[in-house]
Order: sequence, then structure tokens, then C-alpha cells
Amino acid sequence: MIRPPGTAGALAALYGLEPVPLYSAGAGVYDDIAQIDRAEIGDVLRLAQRVGGPVLELACGSGRVTLPLLARGHRVVALDNSAALLRLLSDRLPDVSGARLVEADMTSFELDETFGLVVLAATSVCLLDARQRAAVFERVRAHLAADGLFYVSVLDLADRLRAARPVERTSVLVGPGGVTSLFQRFDGRRGVRTTSVLHESVVDGVTADRAMYLSEINMVGSDELVRELGAAGFEVLERRSGPAGEQVQVQLVCGRR
Ligand SMILES: C[S@@+](CC[C@H](N)C(=O)[O-])C[C@H]1O[C@@H](n2cnc3c(N)ncnc32)[C@H](O)[C@@H]1O
Repeated sequence: MIRPPGTAGALAALYGLEPVPLYSAGAGVYDDIAQIDRAEIGDVLRLAQRVGGPVLELACGSGRVTLPLLARGHRVVALDNSAALLRLLSDRLPDVSGARLVEADMTSFELDETFGLVVLAATSVCLLDARQRAAVFERVRAHLAADGLFYVSVLDLADRLRAARPVERTSVLVGPGGVTSLFQRFDGRRGVRTTSVLHESVVDGVTADRAMYLSEINMVGSDELVRELGAAGFEVLERRSGPAGEQVQVQLVCGRR
């Protein structure tokens, strides 16, 4: 397990916390954060409406995007390598739904059908290194219908976040059950952003429990990703950037070249 850097590292040492991976041991905390994020859902729904046919959603998590797709009547194969997040999604599926949940690695999966739309949302492609990204693109191509579309989102970072000297950004979410503090540390020399999540449960005004979760992404920007997609046999048909800021989400819609 990676060590939390910067302020989060100091807090982990102070409280004697042993950080654990966000998407497995911290699935419930990740899910709470994901519930308030509506980004991309409308765009993915519009694409699914346009292409018809089944949807393959890679790195589906607890279903932030999967559940709205199912609610619109699409058949969805939802794949993730976190059993804990897939369990949360499974518990939320309606009695009758067009969902098939698959626990697998998105860089090496094999399914017995092709899809009109493959979705890799929430900038999850940045969780992978260059070799793994080439592998996932190869798998997507193998599972894409001839005229199918591949939707992938990526993060463009401001130059000051990519500098050799690490930079930190902190945000705090306060909910009825406690406080979740997110520490993002950008290390341009290593080319990674580490997110440390300190979750403190509060009962009757007193901290009842404290845990820390970690996840790390690679600083791959949209230009680099477009080059990699081209090398993998994809053509970028649409490219949209989110609101200006230090971290801008870029959405790419690709077809076969
Ligand atoms: C940022 S979350 C996105 C989850 C979901 N798409 C959403 O929008 O909330 C990243 C997801 O990628 C999954 N993941 C990470 N590496 C993976 C891999 N190699 N194969 C499959 N899933 C992976 C994690 O378990 C997690 O659910």
C-alpha cells in the first residue's frame, strides 16, 4: 500500500492510522462521495440513446452512471474489479433490470458479445499506467460493434499542479454522520496525484471512528490520451472540456479508425 504524502501522511501518523485502498476497504466512503457527483451522466445517457444496443460500462463502481442507464431501459454490462463496490451496485438494482455485473480487470476482460457503446467515465482511465491503458484500449476495440462508440473522460491539470514541487489541495465534506476530508497531493516529478480521504464518524458530537483511504492517479492529459487512442486504432470524433479550472475534465467520444 502506498503511504499518504504531505498533510494526510502527518495526520495518519498523528492518529496512528493505517491507510487502506479507497475502492475496496473504503467502498462505502467512496460511494458517499460519488452519490453527490452528477457529472457526465447526461452526456452518457444522450450517447446511449444515440447508438442503441447494449452498453459496456468499465470501472462502473457502485453504479453512479450504471443506474441512470438502466433506468432509461438500456441493457448494461457493468464491470469493475472491486467486489465491494459491485455489491453496493447489486443491492440497488431493481428486481427486473437489464444489468449484468462482472467482476474483472478492465485491462484483461473477455466477454461473449460486442457493444454499441463502451463507457469509461469519472476519469478512471487515469488509474492506469501507459501499458495498462494500451491494454484497456485493445480490450475496448475487441468488444466494440463495427459502428460503436467509446466514451472516455480524462483530466487536464494546470501547469502549477504538474510542477516538480508537490502542491496540495484540500476539501472537506460535512454530512449528518461525520466529516470527510479530501487531501489531493500533486507530484509532478512522479507524475501522480494521490488522494487521501480521512473519514471521521461523529456520534453525539464526538468522533467515534476515524479511517484513512487512498487512491492514486497518473497525470495523463487529454493530448497524450488522444495520441494513445490513435495508436490503438481509435479516431476521436468529439472532444468536450468541462468548466475552466485547475483540474478540467475532458470528454472524448471515439470510433474505430
Ligand atoms: C473513480 S471510480 C469511478 C466509479 C464510477 N464509474 C463512477 O463514476 O462513480 C474508479 C473505479 O475504477 C475501478 N477500477 C480501478 N482499477 C480497475 C481495473 N483495473 N479494472 C476494473 N476496475 C477498476 C475502481 O474499483 C472504481 O470503481
